Amino acid sequence: MPGKGIEEVARDLGVEPADLVKLSSNENPHGPSPAAIEAAQSAAEGVHHYPKASHTDLTAAVAEEWDVTPEQVWVSPGADGSLDYVSRAVLEPGQAVLVPGPGFAYYSMSTRYHHGEVTTYELHEADGFQQDAATVLSAYDGQRVVYVTSPHNPTGTEFPHDELEELLGAVDDDTLVAVDEAYGEYTDQPSAATLLDDHDNLAVTRTFSKAYGLAGLRIGYALVPESWGAVYAQINTPFAANEVGLRAALAALEDDDHVEQSVETAAWAREYMAERLGVPTVDGAGNFLLAKIGGVDTEGTNVDADTPGAAVAAAAKRRGVIVRDTGSFGLPEHLRITCGTRAETRTAVETLNDVFAELDATAFDPDAAGPPDTAADGGDRSGESATDGPEATDGGETPQTEGDAS
Ligand SMILES: Cc1ncc(COP(=O)(O)O)c(C=O)c1O
Repeated sequence: MPGKGIEEVARDLGVEPADLVKLSSNENPHGPSPAAIEAAQSAAEGVHHYPKASHTDLTAAVAEEWDVTPEQVWVSPGADGSLDYVSRAVLEPGQAVLVPGPGFAYYSMSTRYHHGEVTTYELHEADGFQQDAATVLSAYDGQRVVYVTSPHNPTGTEFPHDELEELLGAVDDDTLVAVDEAYGEYTDQPSAATLLDDHDNLAVTRTFSKAYGLAGLRIGYALVPESWGAVYAQINTPFAANEVGLRAALAALEDDDHVEQSVETAAWAREYMAERLGVPTVDGAGNFLLAKIGGVDTEGTNVDADTPGAAVAAAAKRRGVIVRDTGSFGLPEHLRITCGTRAETRTAVETLNDVFAELDATAFDPDAAGPPDTAADGGDRSGESATDGPEATDGGETPQTEGDAS
């Protein structure tokens, strides 16, 4: 059920939100950093003012974090806002944009909002949805913008740094390579931001929605080459990034422990799911995992055999576990499962494996699934449970008019 928040899903199912495990929107299962909550609460008292100093302060802090000038930081309402700012800055009506397929829907949406034309490069399941320069260049024909996602949504696969350098070297000077690093904190690979000094045709987008746990506050940013600095004033919607979000983001940026915990939990959950789910998974580096459901035998059930991902997601939802059916990404035989807390992740794996058995999935290998409570690294850490932290909600979903944008 893409686009619905946990309260809406709970209402539909006639249960309490606390009874659900919601792993469909790649949100942070630990919630926001306590420091960010405090900053948001105290900022609330001043929201009769326009966000001015807070915008300047966050811009400066992000610039320091990345060792760039403040002019190179374009703070925006979510990373989605950054994608729009990139479109506004470079795209003329009728110009073409190259996006990955499967891929994040908002690249196409933003392109169309700005009267551009969408073209696609395919990532192939047969080679593990591998990302590299050759894959992009096979569809490249001088497009004005080329989108790269690393780690990729929904596959989790990374675009290796040396391949990115190769891509930047191969495209025309007037092609912008926009690297979306919404899940950048979850990988050890160097950020594309390290290449900004050497390339005037590169932009990097990041967000506070994922590892920082601030999806509901809508703060992201683009990092751009120094030569672009003056453009922001021409394309920025004034005050689009809100005071509460900006103050919370500033506090979150300083809470290294929270980010570290979020990244650690995601790494643990990816490994746990890959080892214990009774279906194949794609090796990924985000806070989620893509699983292959193809081959579910739906005979005798009331589900459509052509959409096994939807069938499994629907059956799991009836059992209180909400995962993302990737049909809207063009992957009807897959599911995307967000990394939850350890308890949530265990519940999800157990539930999904029950569903695979219930649906008699031919891809299901009972030997691959061990007992759900024998975590590879030895069990729960204190403070982590299915109910710790604020309940995750399904915020941050872009309207689902064109597929899946979260
Ligand atoms: C690849 C990718 N880019 C960008 C975004 C947008 O993030 P934000 O919440 O900052 O708008 C998402 C959200 O799910 C995403 O998956």
